[in-house]
Amino acid sequence: MSQDRIPIIVPDLRFDEVESDLRAVFESGQLTAGPFVEKFEQAVAEWVGVSDAVATTSATTALHLALAALDVGVGDEVLMSDFTFPATANAVIQTGATPVFVDSGVSDFAMDADQARALATERTRVIMPVDPFGQPADHEKISAVAADVGAKVIVDAACSLGGERFGLACGSHGDMGCFSFHPRKVVTSGEGGMIATSDATLANRLRSLRSHGAIRTESAGLLFAEPGYNYRLSEVAAVMGLNQVRRLNEILLDRRLTASRYDEKLVSIRGLRVPRPAKNVSWSYQSYVVVIDDGVDRNSVIRRMAERHVETTIGTYACHQHPAYERWGYSIGDLPNSDRFARQALTLPLLPRMPEQTVDRVVEALASVLDSE
Ligand SMILES: Cc1ncc(COP(=O)(O)O)c(C=O)c1O
Repeated sequence: MSQDRIPIIVPDLRFDEVESDLRAVFESGQLTAGPFVEKFEQAVAEWVGVSDAVATTSATTALHLALAALDVGVGDEVLMSDFTFPATANAVIQTGATPVFVDSGVSDFAMDADQARALATERTRVIMPVDPFGQPADHEKISAVAADVGAKVIVDAACSLGGERFGLACGSHGDMGCFSFHPRKVVTSGEGGMIATSDATLANRLRSLRSHGAIRTESAGLLFAEPGYNYRLSEVAAVMGLNQVRRLNEILLDRRLTASRYDEKLVSIRGLRVPRPAKNVSWSYQSYVVVIDDGVDRNSVIRRMAERHVETTIGTYACHQHPAYERWGYSIGDLPNSDRFARQALTLPLLPRMPEQTVDRVVEALASVLDSE
């Protein structure tokens, strides 16, 4: 058995396919806000089935821009998934609004829509569910809660480009969906993000706010309509992202094949639970995540997998447990499902064109580690 280290993820890049576009960028000298950013935006909008997509420098800036475009600020509350990478919370806090953390479901990483309903008040301006690891949240229920309290929905779709729920692509749920193109995502541009929306007025404001609040006019120079940001994506980044969006179907098929192999092989392993998509839902499998049984030390599993040259990692974080958010008065365990997932979720390697023997090696290593835990 090979003892090569199995990494958690490898970006699916093809230099030969982007070489001529990269040369075109270099030769044109147009390094930002040019034709490749536009093509990348159009390709994502088309894939997702929305009228507009606005590229940004990351999902974090996409989330912040989306909130800014709705004028969210001091005195507003944003209901957001607690079980997420803290970028979600940081974007909310940077607007001056108050984050209200919502637990995950008992057996579902995504936001508990019933708890969101219970927490919604007249101060709730936005509900911000996450599609964790590319698993779409219950967008029908969440949109109904938002409609009842007059709130907007911004989906943190950082991980879910390629996922789908009842025929609607991830990113198209709610008022805006924010993608990430970080190297650990299904499509990567190094760093990068994008906001998908079918609201043309919002899209115009997003484009202006992304570039200092500027508006082009007939006369020379720009008109600065409001104080904005510089969240523009570079052309080189767009070339990388565009190439992968063009072969997104192939990338997803490949990830789903590996996920189905894991599903099958992990069924007989004791000591873990394997979440599966519901009927009419498909996941992007940004990450393949299992839940280790309570009482088994997940961190020790990660260490012992590393000794077997298999990289595994946590799922993601329970924001309410972290000092950055202490000021909002949560105690560890206040959100018990998120708390348990932060402690027990385990991400397994999912690599492009992952050989079945490599999947077997991961599963065998995990079975032996769990057997002796
Ligand atoms: C759920 C979620 N939201 C936001 C982000 C932030 O993405 P970015 O690194 O593109 O800012 C991440 C990144 O891991 C994420 O997983």
